[in-house]
Amino acid sequence: VEVFPDKIKASQRVAREISQIIITKNSIGKKTVLGLATGATPLPLYEELIRMHNEEGLSFKNVITFNLDEYFPMQPTSHQSYVSFMHKNLFDHIDIKRENVHIPDGTLQKEKIADYCRQYEKLIEEVGGLDLQILGIGRTGHVGFNEPGSAPNSGSRLVTLDDLTRRDAARDFGGKENVPTKAITMGIGTILKARKIILMAWSGKKSSIIKKAVEGEISSSVPATFLQYSNKVKIVLDKEAASEL
Ligand code: GLP
Repeated sequence: VEVFPDKIKASQRVAREISQIIITKNSIGKKTVLGLATGATPLPLYEELIRMHNEEGLSFKNVITFNLDEYFPMQPTSHQSYVSFMHKNLFDHIDIKRENVHIPDGTLQKEKIADYCRQYEKLIEEVGGLDLQILGIGRTGHVGFNEPGSAPNSGSRLVTLDDLTRRDAARDFGGKENVPTKAITMGIGTILKARKIILMAWSGKKSSIIKKAVEGEISSSVPATFLQYSNKVKIVLDKEAASEL
């Protein structure tokens, strides 16, 4: 666990770590594979990466990304989609190649999702596996959209969203009734395969779930506790999110 005075300093540290991975992999002629998250938490990180691209010449030409999740059903053009979120907040401002961006497809027919998820996992493996997975945490203890009840070895799949998660998303959708009831998410097992995992959390709103995730008993009722199984995980917090530890 690393605690920073505020989310800006914390995000600058994480951005520096990402740029070091990209530079190191570039120097051996390899592509960097990043797992990315949505929500308010990674926004200062994405701002810092854009700044480093503009001011320090950090290039994403050799970066491949896989996003954790997407609502289902969801049209990519909808402004609530994670496709829109990622383009607006990161991809439109950096030199990443569009063919290197992967975000779960919220437009599939339900019967096709299982196959699609297997392909998504296969593709991650084919490009060498995730060098780094960035995570936020929901107040249910979800990572990605792995809600309470998720298994530690779960793969990418269609899931049902928790009521609290839908309430938390209500503002983006103009009411909970408009929030999709389902989502496609990478699994806990998918996430744990990453060579490095950084979970970030800011503000007092996250302090009690952070306490459970970091110090609580490992249990599927708080899926983030499964990260305790791994020694590759770093939890990056501001003072408020760390206040109950
Ligand atoms: C959503 C996302 C998660 C994210 C969580 C927390 O449910 N699917 O990946 O970690 O919200 O959101 P925020 O960062 O806005 O608190």
